Amino acid sequence: MGEALNGLKRSHYGGDLRAAHIGEQVTVMGWVQKRRNLGGLIFVDLRDRSGICQIVFDTAVSDAAFEKANDLRGEYVIAVTGKVMQRESVNANIPTGQIEIFAEDLKILCEADVPPIHIDDNDEANERLRLKYRYLDLRKPKMQNYLLTRHKIASSARRFFDSHGFVDIETPMLTKPTPEGARDYLVPSRVNLNKFYALPQSPQLFKQLLMVSGFDRYYQITKCFRDEDLRADRQPEFTQIDVEMSFVDEEDVRSINEQFLQKVFKEVGNIDVTLPLPRLTYQEAMTRYGSDKPDIRFGFELNHLNDLFVNTEFKVFKDTLDGNGDIRGINFNGVADRFSRKDISKLEDFTKNYGAKGLAWIKFVEGEIQSSITKFLSAQDIEAIKNRVDAKDGDMLLIVADKPSVVFDALGALRCEVAKQLGILDPKDYKFLWVTDFPLFEFDEEENRYMAKHHPFTSPKDEDVDLLETDPGNCRAKAYDIVLNGYEIGGGSIRIHNSKVQERMFKALGFSEAEATEKFGFFIDAFKYGAPPHGGIAYGLDRVVMLMTGTDNIRDVIAFPKTQDAKCLMTNAPSVAEQKQLDELYINLKPIEKNTPETV
Ligand code: AMO
Ligand code: AMP
Repeated sequence: MGEALNGLKRSHYGGDLRAAHIGEQVTVMGWVQKRRNLGGLIFVDLRDRSGICQIVFDTAVSDAAFEKANDLRGEYVIAVTGKVMQRESVNANIPTGQIEIFAEDLKILCEADVPPIHIDDNDEANERLRLKYRYLDLRKPKMQNYLLTRHKIASSARRFFDSHGFVDIETPMLTKPTPEGARDYLVPSRVNLNKFYALPQSPQLFKQLLMVSGFDRYYQITKCFRDEDLRADRQPEFTQIDVEMSFVDEEDVRSINEQFLQKVFKEVGNIDVTLPLPRLTYQEAMTRYGSDKPDIRFGFELNHLNDLFVNTEFKVFKDTLDGNGDIRGINFNGVADRFSRKDISKLEDFTKNYGAKGLAWIKFVEGEIQSSITKFLSAQDIEAIKNRVDAKDGDMLLIVADKPSVVFDALGALRCEVAKQLGILDPKDYKFLWVTDFPLFEFDEEENRYMAKHHPFTSPKDEDVDLLETDPGNCRAKAYDIVLNGYEIGGGSIRIHNSKVQERMFKALGFSEAEATEKFGFFIDAFKYGAPPHGGIAYGLDRVVMLMTGTDNIRDVIAFPKTQDAKCLMTNAPSVAEQKQLDELYINLKPIEKNTPETV
């Protein structure tokens, strides 16, 4: 059965009805959440975007509506006309709890099969099933709230940038590869056989060219595509709030973006952000927190311990120091009695995921120590360590010795893991942080060459320009990330606007002139015709929504997301192409061998 509306109009969203509507005649439309038959009365919870309201079918009001209501099942789509009345038993748990609608007319607009998942925030269906029936999953109030919040953030962002003179300009989706460090998604061209477009990893090149064109201030809320290993905070297609400005330096970009963050968080989440936001240089962030995106809601900072172990007998530490490695530790103060040996052993396994070979521990208990390395510690050693990390009774020091990158990764992750286990992370505590002065390059061991840490158009610090040739590893960039509670929510830089410096940058990256011209000739050319100093930033919108809504799963805040293996379980994309399409594109598929790395 599916009745037509026949001109019937909705007068209200059911979830918006309040005591003030009592006595009004209303028409509401939506889905049946629940039906209870109490003999002479049938109660229906009607759900729409705004929430739930209770409908009462009473033979004393309408026999016909009551009869029809007998047929209602969960998820039927209905229209109800009736009078709003004061409820006898008020339900304080829902906003419409003071009222109910006494139905005079019922239309069943569409019947529904029994849904494969419960349309309920507490539904515990596994995520794959939820993703397969995403359109049902999205009926849940929690999921609707995620997407409504997403909409509000995007809308608030537009208002902010519009009102500050930024122009929204679209950039191409079918384009040349943009170097953001991930793999490209390629799209074959039928009219240019054997040639491919790349989907943009970001609008980086185009937004810079728009500055060369003189648009001065640009923004765009746009999709980006990166074929990279997915994690809980990454998707193959995601959305950036992308921003670029002319005639600015780092301070200008940061300042307007702080105002932007303050505005959006207040407007959408009623969250007060105090300005200016704190800042750490990359170097400080790494030495204090072991991470370039530290969660600063809690302390547990790293301590450098190399000098305390120069005469150690402990082979692991000695070998580490001989190999120019690092020994660092975190004093988890006041938690010694919260972590048993077994718990520490689990933490050790955790750090091994980050490449650590072990985790030494020292507990300070009643003036004594308990430790996995007791036999290597003299009384003086213990005193020196105590002083260095400011240890008190009840503290637990965890130490990693390894090459510096492993020590930072392992301890950076460990401090967050311990904080999580201690339950001290308040998702409603929003701690922003700029991380500045990133290195311009990072060394790629596999390729045995320097790669751009941000992207190849990021400007070196003025005082470091000559390091491009002499000491690239120590060359710092005019690059900054904005970090929130341990997530990188945005990143940007001042760009190179001088074609000579750009050429030197390409050289430092190991591109021959021919390669640079082939890849970015159009871009290098553009800078020969008058480019303003410029810079910008891009936010990961999905991550911002995640943090503002308090979920830790990026898929929750994307209407139709992909799984960790880049599939859409609802449409079954990606799927096999028809032979006819492949023929048109001159594409021959290679047979997939067993154990092909991509398939295992
Ligand atoms: P970057 O690569 O740092 O910079 O990207 C900007 C922000 O986008 C988000 N992000 C992602 N979110 C979800 N899934 C992903 N796979 C993903 N990758 C990145 C992050 C990140 O901070 N063109 C430069 C910006 C600029 O220089 O102006 C760029 O794309 O939150
Ligand atoms: P062992 O002498 O191998 O029993 O190690 C003594 C302690 O040192 C154990 O707690 C190990 O986890 C720890 N350990 C081993 N390797 C390292 C390392 N690279 N960094 C920190 N601690 C380590």
